[in-house]
Amino acid sequence: MHRNRSRSPMSSYHQQSSDRPKRDEGRGDGKFFRPTNHHRHQLGSAPLSSQVLSTRRELYERDFPLYKQPVEVGCFSLDSQRRFFNDSRQLRYYVEPDRCPNFDLRDGYKDRYVRRDENVKERLDHILRWIVANRSKLKSRASANSSCALDVDFVTWRGHLTKLLTTPYETREGWLLAVTRFNGTLYISEVETEAARQERENRAERNKEMMYWGYKFEQYTCADTASSSPDPRGVVNTNEAFCTVVQTRLTDHQLLFSGEVDCRDRDPGAPPPPACYVELKTSAEICTPKQRSNFHRFKLLKWWAQSFLPGVPRVVAGFKDHDGVVVSTETFLISKISQLIKNEDNCWKPTVCMNFCCDFLSYVKRIATEDSPSVVYLFSWEPRREVTYSVHRDSQYTFLPRWYIQEMTSSPESLHQH
Ligand code: A3P
Ligand code: MG
Repeated sequence: MHRNRSRSPMSSYHQQSSDRPKRDEGRGDGKFFRPTNHHRHQLGSAPLSSQVLSTRRELYERDFPLYKQPVEVGCFSLDSQRRFFNDSRQLRYYVEPDRCPNFDLRDGYKDRYVRRDENVKERLDHILRWIVANRSKLKSRASANSSCALDVDFVTWRGHLTKLLTTPYETREGWLLAVTRFNGTLYISEVETEAARQERENRAERNKEMMYWGYKFEQYTCADTASSSPDPRGVVNTNEAFCTVVQTRLTDHQLLFSGEVDCRDRDPGAPPPPACYVELKTSAEICTPKQRSNFHRFKLLKWWAQSFLPGVPRVVAGFKDHDGVVVSTETFLISKISQLIKNEDNCWKPTVCMNFCCDFLSYVKRIATEDSPSVVYLFSWEPRREVTYSVHRDSQYTFLPRWYIQEMTSSPESLHQH
């Protein structure tokens, strides 16, 4: 048992090998950690029973892991006051802009902008509300001690998985991921790092305005219905969101995650979700080969990771000038991005991203063995370091709400009686 109660995340440390759980503890998934001797000897990586996880790119250059086509199992909406609805009322429809759009992204920043309160930490709450509302849709696996176990290994936000995918290439921002095992399912919820909090609280005015630009671009290109037009005179309210909930599998990891979707193809004959979804992005206009190279190496990595995960097939990019005017747009197909970056030297590789994520999830399964809503395994990573963890009981990190635990521990029969 790990006894390092409520350690500060900043003092996270490498666990001693004597403190290591046995390899076949947990749910018998030890076989999936089998290191190939090839990797161990040739690349000098730590054995896969290690208490830490390396993020070195070379270790993850294997065949692309099995990633099942993501299936949308539901969706939800958050309204202008951040209230949850178990439906698609906030879904918007993509309207293709003109060749020279000239969208002024600064318009409305001062007087038509309602910003979501970033001090409110929602953690996994909206996803958990969706799970409670849709329990019957999620197959239940028979289990001796609970009739309510979900048939998934991991529940999380898509954004947390995006961070994992890009970790082997990230040089600036670390992360903290809190993990709780409850009824056999591992819940992953991000904790804001001290550096991220400081960055957020001391954000320069220019950066605050530039954050608005992305949402303003959405307003110029999205309509509320399939037959209406965008209304750029309206208010931009970042409380509003439409989120898809998808189920998929990465090798032996069954995943259920949710991610915000900007809009969908407005053609009623478009394929079913998530294939009809469109991700909108803005980026600085590209004027030099160096800028093009940076766009491929850094921006396309983030865009690919974010949309590949939920199976969103295309990103529409608005290229903006220094004054926040969109001068052109371009569609990027996610399936074509790996081709596009092939000419860049020393560029990122999708297989490294997916294999790292897969190995991280295996590592989490192996470490987070105690099934209790009040226990948090806090996984911590800083650039140029390994992933480490610490364990916290009944601490500030506990994130599964009481209402969720109650809903998921009472049997469906007893629920009917209330
Ligand atoms: P852009 O990425 O087009 O600039 P998303 O594209 O993920 O749907 O996010 C919509 C917009 O939210 C972004 O548009 C950006 O304006 C803002 N945003 C999201 N994450 C951000 C971050 N980490 N830092 C700054 N702005 C962010
Ligand atoms: Mg977007």
